[in-house]
Amino acid sequence: MSRPVRARIDLQALRHNLSLAREAAPGRRVMAVVKADGYGHGLLPVARALAADGFAVASLEEALVLREGAIEAPVLLLAGLFEAAELEAALAHRLALVVHAEHQLQWLERANPDGPLDLWLKLDTGMHRLGFAPEQAAGARRRLLALPAVQRGSLTLMSHLACADDPEDDYTDRQLAAFTAATAGLQEPRSLANSAALLTRPDTRFDWVRPGIMLYGASPLVAGRPSPAPLQPVMSLETRLVEVAQRRRGDCIGYGCSWTCPEDMAVGVAAAGYGDGYPRHAPAGTPVLVNGRRASLAGRVSMDTVCIDLRGAPAARVGDPVVLWGEGLPADEVAAHAGTIAYELFCGVTARVPRDYG
Ligand SMILES: Cc1ncc(COP(=O)(O)O)c(C=O)c1O
Repeated sequence: MSRPVRARIDLQALRHNLSLAREAAPGRRVMAVVKADGYGHGLLPVARALAADGFAVASLEEALVLREGAIEAPVLLLAGLFEAAELEAALAHRLALVVHAEHQLQWLERANPDGPLDLWLKLDTGMHRLGFAPEQAAGARRRLLALPAVQRGSLTLMSHLACADDPEDDYTDRQLAAFTAATAGLQEPRSLANSAALLTRPDTRFDWVRPGIMLYGASPLVAGRPSPAPLQPVMSLETRLVEVAQRRRGDCIGYGCSWTCPEDMAVGVAAAGYGDGYPRHAPAGTPVLVNGRRASLAGRVSMDTVCIDLRGAPAARVGDPVVLWGEGLPADEVAAHAGTIAYELFCGVTARVPRDYG
């Protein structure tokens, strides 16, 4: 038997989540955010499963994976060009480019290609991470519209929200007001909403929505808030028990002897650890499922294994299935224990973990 750790990817759940995005934003185009290897789910299988209106990635390399995989839908490079030399490939593969800074604008002006070229001008409406300040945006827009390649292609106006994951934070109102003011009366299509805004703020939907995390089934809202839509988990990180041992009260478990058995009890070892992307800082008490029953971590996470307090699953035997997150155990819950977010858990699953698509 090979090492049993797997990330099972439910493509039907992925499609279900896209349908929820479409229902929440009727008539809008959906730019599915598939950067970082489809948030760890596998870039090409995710894109092939999703009938989205476009796909957003973080680099030329990711975009080329999509084009080489025969994805013909629009592909948007969310950070645009990292160097001028990338423009040639972007043109050859008809990749849409975010333009967020003066140096990128100058590269385009200097190259002045024939095009066509689809550009997304990024405005900084308050996140202060990439983008033209609203007072620079009008000038940047004029310069982009003067490029023949853009006249043959298209221009879209976009911004990104910093606090949409907390629907009570009025920072979203301020960013929306800044975006609306900076783009008022302009005819170009606009895009603002990420998953959280798409689901909670109809007034941010504009022409293109850009959902990421909701497609993968995790809640886009801050920890402790229920998901605003019935999303289905897409990734289940699964393994099996490779040891079940009876330990005595006072026995310590794992590296650093940081956890001690409070009574005579069964402790299991499951074959998955931080070498697979399970967070090393997940503390004892973090939930896992053994045979579908809740149990919890005991002691520190190792590279290849985790130890499990089996008092919640007394019938457990070697070979029994263990779910670290996924079906029946939301990644958001595990993330909250580990002091992180589901985004990081998904992206952190390492290359040695086979992805099984179904
Ligand atoms: C510019 C941009 N738009 C949309 C998204 C999708 O965000 P979310 O995964 O929260 O839906 C991201 C993700 O980081 C992003 O950088």
